[in-house]
Amino acid sequence: MKNLNIIILAAGKGTRMHSSTPKVLHAIGGQPILNHVLDCANKLNPSKIIIVYGFGGEVVKTAITQDNIIWVEQVEQKGTGHAVQQAIDHLNDSDQALIMLGDVPLVNASECSELIESGNTDLAIMTLIKEDPTGYGRIVRASSSYDSKVLQITEQKDASSEQQLIKEVNTGIMAMPNKQLKSWLLKLENNNAQGEFYLTDIVKYAVDDKLNVATVTTSDEYSVTGINSKKDLEIIERAYQTKNAEQLLFSGVTLKDKSRIDVRGTLNCGKDVIIDVNCIFEGKVTLGDNVSIGPNCVIKNASIETGTKIAAFTHIDDASVGGDSKIGPFARLRPGAKLASNTHIGNFVEIKNAEVGVGSKVNHLSYIGDSVIGKSVNIGAGTITCNYDGQNKFKTIIEDNAFIGSDTQLVAPVTIGRGATIAAGSTITKDAPSEQLTLCRAKAQKSIPGWKRPVKIKKEQ
Ligand code: UD1
Ligand code: CA
Repeated sequence: MKNLNIIILAAGKGTRMHSSTPKVLHAIGGQPILNHVLDCANKLNPSKIIIVYGFGGEVVKTAITQDNIIWVEQVEQKGTGHAVQQAIDHLNDSDQALIMLGDVPLVNASECSELIESGNTDLAIMTLIKEDPTGYGRIVRASSSYDSKVLQITEQKDASSEQQLIKEVNTGIMAMPNKQLKSWLLKLENNNAQGEFYLTDIVKYAVDDKLNVATVTTSDEYSVTGINSKKDLEIIERAYQTKNAEQLLFSGVTLKDKSRIDVRGTLNCGKDVIIDVNCIFEGKVTLGDNVSIGPNCVIKNASIETGTKIAAFTHIDDASVGGDSKIGPFARLRPGAKLASNTHIGNFVEIKNAEVGVGSKVNHLSYIGDSVIGKSVNIGAGTITCNYDGQNKFKTIIEDNAFIGSDTQLVAPVTIGRGATIAAGSTITKDAPSEQLTLCRAKAQKSIPGWKRPVKIKKEQ
């Protein structure tokens, strides 16, 4: 087999997206469309990847972090053939090319491999049989039989009414030896309905050169669907998510509804994981064995260990949770939250940049930031770490077995000693010693005899 040079066409403007973001940077499954194409390209073991870019060029280049790419600019978009011409200097005569489209994210690597195999000697074209072929280039064969000789590709706008009836269409993905490709590229003309340099004209030249034109016909339409509009983006996003959900089910994850999960990144699951409806997973998320995720959770860049239960409406971002813990409902773990095993984090609790030790509980209405909480600590309802003076952040340390009464403010920097108890309603500004009760309430409690509740003032009619 020859070395493989992959050319990805990504210079199109994407006018129908009605967006200031270049088309190939819109996301499918949380990743730019072009990244999906690159994922497929990388699997094919190419010696070179050349991306032809145009509209939004610099933005595209900076968004794509893969570093062994040859970027080639197509300043004016004069057609697909003109786009490939821009890459000509990078094509070695002894290699072969695979042409991919930058806006087709679900492209399938094993189908591309099949195409590449034929493209070692032939011109090989990936085709699709489409009930409604409108808009596509038609595969014109010697007869109506799908195994008869391919003669040319005719674009929609150039097709005769008879050719418009042809249902076999060009997907735009092609493979061929570089030597021939280069000679054909030099022959391209733009005397057609759109005044463009069509890549598809190379089929005629291949026939003239007596080169075999092979086809690989895909049965998976999504794998060759290009994204031209927000409608296409939504359709392909759903197709991507459905496929992903099916893979999760296949690997043994229980999904309450496979149409109500979105994975925008990678989700790795252990055994007997249960995921309820409407959850979104972003970035890299790992769920250990027996983890269950309640409905409506958003979990991003997180690892959740064995046996932990995440209840409904919990948000987790850049955080880790040890095993056998109970989180939520309505909990929020923000970046740097590191919870050990057997922790309980309850409703309306926000944890940010803080460690929570084994067996500790923060069950209700708290903010814990920039803190280190030891083992078996109980944090009462409404406790707040005052970690920020408006300019700087300070740390709160709560040692093992401490008990913090409800509605306490811990003004950092401050340390609560091992086994200390803080009385409810305290504002703690100095370190609290171990094993003692510390309290600090604004005023002693008093009662006012004869006090009456305010009465409602009647409005004049
Ligand atoms: C092209 C094919 C058509 C095929 C269809 C499949 C040609 C002449 N036609 O048509 O046979 O059925 O794709 O979707 O090849 N691009 C550039 N520079 C350009 C023009 C396009 O980089 O000057 C890129 C676009 O970004 C896109 C791809 O090439 O990724 C296809 O371009 P598009 O304009 O969508 O081609 P179609 O006219 O749809
Ligand atoms: Ca197109």
